Amino acid sequence: MAKLIINNEQKDVTIAPEIYGHFSEHLGRCIYEGLYVGDHSDIPNVNGMRTDVVEALKEMKLPVLRWPGGCFADEYHWMDGIGPKESRKKMINTHWGGVVEDNSFGTHEFFELCRQLGCKTYINLNLGSGTVREMSEWIEYMTFNGVSPMAELRKKNGHEEPWTVDYAGVGNENWGCGGNMRPQHYADEYRRYQTYVRNYAGSQPIAKICCGANINDYEWTKVVLDTCFDHTRPKEHGHMDGLSLHYYTLPEVEDDWEKKGSATVFTEDIFYQTLRRGYFMDELINRHGAIMDEYDPDKKIGLIVDEWGIWSDVEPGTNPGFLYQQNTMRDALVAGITLNIFNKHADRVKMACIAQLINVLQSVILTDGEKMIKTPTYYIFHMYRHHQGASLLKSDMAGNSTVGSGVNEMPKLIESVSEDQEGIITITVTNNSLEAAEDVEVKLAKDGAFYQVCEARIVTGKMDAHNTFENPDVVTEEDFTDYRKTESGISFKLPACSIICIRLKK
Ligand code: AHR
Repeated sequence: MAKLIINNEQKDVTIAPEIYGHFSEHLGRCIYEGLYVGDHSDIPNVNGMRTDVVEALKEMKLPVLRWPGGCFADEYHWMDGIGPKESRKKMINTHWGGVVEDNSFGTHEFFELCRQLGCKTYINLNLGSGTVREMSEWIEYMTFNGVSPMAELRKKNGHEEPWTVDYAGVGNENWGCGGNMRPQHYADEYRRYQTYVRNYAGSQPIAKICCGANINDYEWTKVVLDTCFDHTRPKEHGHMDGLSLHYYTLPEVEDDWEKKGSATVFTEDIFYQTLRRGYFMDELINRHGAIMDEYDPDKKIGLIVDEWGIWSDVEPGTNPGFLYQQNTMRDALVAGITLNIFNKHADRVKMACIAQLINVLQSVILTDGEKMIKTPTYYIFHMYRHHQGASLLKSDMAGNSTVGSGVNEMPKLIESVSEDQEGIITITVTNNSLEAAEDVEVKLAKDGAFYQVCEARIVTGKMDAHNTFENPDVVTEEDFTDYRKTESGISFKLPACSIICIRLKK
């Protein structure tokens, strides 16, 4: 029996809705086919955006979308993707499968998609192979409401009003595909480029994201912050609003990208190893966060985990450059664990984007022609949506045991708890064990006796259970009933290999 102790008397930190963000790159079938089918398609669409997909993502409450990459961003020249579609330049997508990119999805289409989704916009700018002028003109094109060459061009292309760019990433993985830069060099470039990410009069200020580390490259974090922080003008916050972090969970061989392991066929040992590697996110946030604390003790700069998730081998027979992989209960658990970790670090983690939205890596949706399925990961994001914008409540799982062995040992249960503006408490817990259910007794610091369960949902199944186009509902979100009222709150029995969401109301 574990005891979940919740302090519902203290509500200092808000969980940024953007922690539940997503990433869409011109890669494989994420944009084309997944999101955008063009307005002449037989697949039902609104202005080219798939209706089934847009509806599913709205139900999931997608808060922010990052685009156009990834590695693609540092090779993207935005002017190729505006104006009449028939005259847009065609190019080879050198990073991803060497296929022809016809630029039919560009700036106007991205903002139309975000309008339909009702989400915030995160544009990743090109620092690696673009110029300061090209980048600053894109900002002008998107956000300037007045007379200027770029604003006129936007109007000529059919959009009178400027759009809102909520976040701008100044380069992507500039330690790798974004230019193979050393941290000092990137940081100097960042300082220069970000100067020209202008906030035009009347437009909403753009939050600037500086390229952060790959996994545990703490040296990168240190050098970049040291170079960006101008100690003579401390109010500048290092010229940034966010610092990114990328971490992918590779199931099998960690340092061999050819042997990542199958998405659906794996042993119990590999299952626990994958979960343990996902749980490493907690250490990454603690350690990068500690360096950030030295420069930004008031936590004004967000740690932006804008690429995370399981990266396995592609599905047999698919283009290796398209990164198409299936999604099982193992993915659901890694998503549940990671989102609980982000919630608990809500004072520092201000946005995160799972990679990637559709048909690429750990997706929430897979498509095949006109067919669409929701993955186990989809249901986790859907179940956890109540945490968005809620106040984090301090929680502790007393009497928790462990799963996995040796270097793969980790907590059996991982939870997070929040309270929304109506006073509803949302508890999400993962049971990472493949064998053992767990009884959990919830103890609230205040008014426990007055709370009732108003909603309880579960995602559970065998470790490799997954949805296919033939059997789309093998793993779904279901009602959970195995709970009872106690004097100080409630208690429940969490089955093995499951994730639950229990909501309590007075
Ligand atoms: O998400 C796939 C790729 O992974 C992205 O393009 C890149 O940023 C990262 O290496």
